[in-house]
Amino acid sequence: MEQCWEPGEPGEPGEPGWARPGGALGARGLLALAVASGAAAWATWAVLLMPGFRRVPLRLQVPYQPSSPRQVANALALLRGRAGKTVDLGSGDGRLVLEAYRQGLRPALGYELNPWLLCLAKYRAWRAGYHGNVSFLKEDLWKVNLSDCHNVIVFLAPSVKPPLATKLLAELPDDARVVAGRFPFPSWTPSSTLGQGLEQVWAYDMKEVRREAQGRAQESQV
Ligand SMILES: C[S@@+](CC[C@H](N)C(=O)[O-])C[C@H]1O[C@@H](n2cnc3c(N)ncnc32)[C@H](O)[C@@H]1O
Ligand SMILES: *[C@@H]1O[C@H](CO)[C@@H](O)[C@H](O)[C@H]1NC(C)=O
Ligand SMILES: *[C@@H]1O[C@H](CO)[C@@H](O)[C@H](O)[C@H]1NC(C)=O
Repeated sequence: MEQCWEPGEPGEPGEPGWARPGGALGARGLLALAVASGAAAWATWAVLLMPGFRRVPLRLQVPYQPSSPRQVANALALLRGRAGKTVDLGSGDGRLVLEAYRQGLRPALGYELNPWLLCLAKYRAWRAGYHGNVSFLKEDLWKVNLSDCHNVIVFLAPSVKPPLATKLLAELPDDARVVAGRFPFPSWTPSSTLGQGLEQVWAYDMKEVRREAQGRAQESQV
């Protein structure tokens, strides 16, 4: 089993002093609680998040925000029946990768820098009995070579979309499809889209995206 996983380690919910049934919290108690939760949030950021991200420039860092079940379903619907390697750039707790694998998109891979999320994803794969063609790697998504990826899922912040678009255009094969959740790529035209509001996802076929980009480049020359 994964040596990184120690059941019951983070949080230690059994600690005394947390929940005292019966006693109402006074102003002092509330203040202490606020300070404690502020400290906990800071500790989460500093201890859990920072180690993996030391080498990533601040403007390229994207905090963890898990996809909703509907977002997962929509993203995978736009990849249904496709062949080749599927990757989630910044895979979090692995929910998209595990569902991709379950639906037969294999091999399925997640890149993630946060060691705790990586452990959680590996543990979930182990618990579900998924192995072989599913993996979670501790790699910086900005540094991995995507030239053999055919299905790419990105649930990342809008601020990193422009540099990401440049990387995907440079590396992905022509028959690759990119599925973006929450925010579309501002300068690309999607081949299809699914869902409304926060649940919306967009699919881009690299061949079309490149054709469009070339058309624009030629237009600007004449
Ligand atoms: C918005 S969350 C999405 C998580 C997951 N894909 C989902 O939809 O549930 C973005 C994730 O990307 C990870 N991440 C951010 N920058 C990264 C980088 N440079 N390399 C690898 N992972 C990164 C974060 O740790 C976070 O878990
Ligand atoms: C992984 O998937 C490929 C393509 O579907 C298949 O050929 C291979 O046997 C699989 N490997 C494992 C270990 O399941
Ligand atoms: C990625 O890998 C491919 C195939 O191995 C190689 O041709 C290409 O130059 C690599 N790209 C980068 C940016 O390293």
